[in-house]
Amino acid sequence: APSVAKCHASLATNYTETSEVVDLDWENLGFGLVDTDFMYVAKCGPDGNFSKGEVLPFGPIAVSPSAGVLNYGQGLFEGLKAYRKTDGSILLFRPEENASRMITGAGRMCMPAPTVEQFVDAVKQTVLANKRWVPPTGKGSLYIRPLLMGSGAVLGLAPAPEYTFIIFVSPVGNYFKEGLSPINLIVEDKFHRASPGGTGGVKTIGNYASVLKAQKIAKGKGYSDVLYLDVVHDKYLEEVSSCNIFVVKDNVISTPAIKGTILPGITRKSIIEVAQSKGFKVEERLVSVDELLNADEVFCTGTAVVVSPVGSITYLGKRVEYGNQGVGVVSQQLSKSLTGLQMGLVEDCMGWTVRL
Ligand code: COI
Repeated sequence: APSVAKCHASLATNYTETSEVVDLDWENLGFGLVDTDFMYVAKCGPDGNFSKGEVLPFGPIAVSPSAGVLNYGQGLFEGLKAYRKTDGSILLFRPEENASRMITGAGRMCMPAPTVEQFVDAVKQTVLANKRWVPPTGKGSLYIRPLLMGSGAVLGLAPAPEYTFIIFVSPVGNYFKEGLSPINLIVEDKFHRASPGGTGGVKTIGNYASVLKAQKIAKGKGYSDVLYLDVVHDKYLEEVSSCNIFVVKDNVISTPAIKGTILPGITRKSIIEVAQSKGFKVEERLVSVDELLNADEVFCTGTAVVVSPVGSITYLGKRVEYGNQGVGVVSQQLSKSLTGLQMGLVEDCMGWTVRL
């Protein structure tokens, strides 16, 4: 009811003013859901326009068992982060990029999407309402998860008649259990993640369900995650289950080109721009598994994983370890520059951060 929403919106304003931080074990944050206070919800009917949206108490939502998202996977998600600066202000990183990517993905999934302005405004409202859950400086970040789903009921296969746009948040620390230490990847030789003409290039929920099997097997053998090869040649790098991949050889940085089967990561794009601004040569192209095995350094990028150095790669039973215990100098330099910007430790000469 509108009166309830209004009540919670004013509560949210109080949190903004008081700027308290919740009492949490900030030293031991991993990447698991911590329930927070509020979520944002907007709906869209057959006219294709989203309602104004409300900040509501975080909690379960009611959908028909016949919802398009539950039956046919008509859903998309995004991920971005907010960091608390030492002066108490909060920084978002390139939220309009997530908004644009959701619009592109929604087109592929036959869904309406919020405009860039609606999306960014909704992210700001959600973060401000949950301000006390943004970790203290240096202790992690607030992970922001926008979700777009076909919430209307369907039975035959068709786009849903109604859509719901939700944003929830959770304080997070490091994604991998290795923390900031290098991760160990296995190149997948049986399963594939995406094929040309499919949905690998958009952030649809089904892309993530389909990698669980390979990931589970790999984790059972002690690996951090799986690196996928292309479906046509079984030779060129695609991406890891939850992040993009980069290789460094003789100070040249290479990463698989965006061609529809890999996710156009915002951290990927930002690392490329940061590297170029520092004078590195960056190549977006086909990168073969042989190049990976012969690289000087390998690292992964993603919103959740940030920049994760790769310590070893295993391919067809052969294990390759990278120098300096896997923490390469190039990835370290790029990681420091990017996170310095994201956390507001250095001046944002790229104009990427949005201050709340
Ligand atoms: C992110 O990095 O934000 C993602 O969406 C990946 C997800 C599997 C955690």
